[in-house]
Amino acid sequence: MPDTIQTIAVLGAGTMGNGIAHVFARRGYNVILRDVETGALDRAAAAISKNLDREIKKGILKEDEKPKILARIQATTELQKITKADFAVEAVPERLDLKISVLREADKLLRPDVILASNTSSISVTSLAASTSRPDRFSGMHFMNPVPVMVLIEVIRALQTSDETFRSTMALCEKIGKTPVAVNDAPGFVSNRVLLPMINEAAFSVMEGVASAEAVDAILKLGMNHPMGPLELADFIGLDVCVNILDVLYAGFGDSKYRACPLLRKMVAAGWLGRKTGRGFYSYNS
Ligand SMILES: NC(=O)c1ccc[n+]([C@@H]2O[C@H](COP(=O)([O-])OP(=O)(O)OC[C@H]3O[C@@H](n4cnc5c(N)ncnc54)[C@H](O)[C@@H]3O)[C@@H](O)[C@H]2O)c1
Repeated sequence: MPDTIQTIAVLGAGTMGNGIAHVFARRGYNVILRDVETGALDRAAAAISKNLDREIKKGILKEDEKPKILARIQATTELQKITKADFAVEAVPERLDLKISVLREADKLLRPDVILASNTSSISVTSLAASTSRPDRFSGMHFMNPVPVMVLIEVIRALQTSDETFRSTMALCEKIGKTPVAVNDAPGFVSNRVLLPMINEAAFSVMEGVASAEAVDAILKLGMNHPMGPLELADFIGLDVCVNILDVLYAGFGDSKYRACPLLRKMVAAGWLGRKTGRGFYSYNS
């Protein structure tokens, strides 16, 4: 089936949507990049251009390829344009009500044979699939940030995902040069189920005065060969996002081991969300 896929609809042109559009267009796919805000589409175009320049600088892309890649991306606020798509990836903010409404709208417009995938990082893919008229043609495609750089796509099989949909999703990931790893639907999938408790314990270590943020990060970087410490990574992800994912794990498993660290909640309440607000475990103002 992936051989017949030529046009990809990407719903949402934020951090993840622009990266997803980038990687598909770079591999020759036409992309319809849809957002509700023209400002978001403008920012996405600027980010894609800058990230392609970075690839040219690194020597992994030829300069004359850039205009061709950009020409394959059609940015639009008109949802109707997605009717031409052969595959669709949803990347709107992580809110169940919003995702369901966007997926339902898309479901009405897309051809019945088209697979709809969600880039959700924590919402049940099984519930999202159930909100559409094509639950068997639904899957989770959890891209990692920054999308053009990170090799992994965690492919999530909802309870209803058919074998054909699963195989097509995996094959499409490979076509865009990524490495798909398949998991079944469960709270936090595998990536966040393993990562977030580590970040949470790192925050507890700071809260309890066991060590400073710098010391916790140094131990994981120098002792476990992690490229980033857990608290640097938390600042990069956004502390609000971390708390939301921990809440999903806590609610999904009903297990106190996923209780979000009170220090994380307090920092979120203070608006110290990490890099995006200039302050988290570290300061980014200078
Ligand atoms: N940021 C990350 O590191 C990361 C990593 C993996 C997965 N995710 C997941 O990817 C998804 C998107 O996250 P993000 O960080 O790109 O968010 P973001 O806020 O940067 O971008 C979301 C975009 O969706 C747009 N949008 C809102 N409503 C819309 C609608 N009805 N139709 C089309 N577009 C709409 C917004 O205008 C915005 O541009 C979330 O589910 C998130 O959990 C994020």
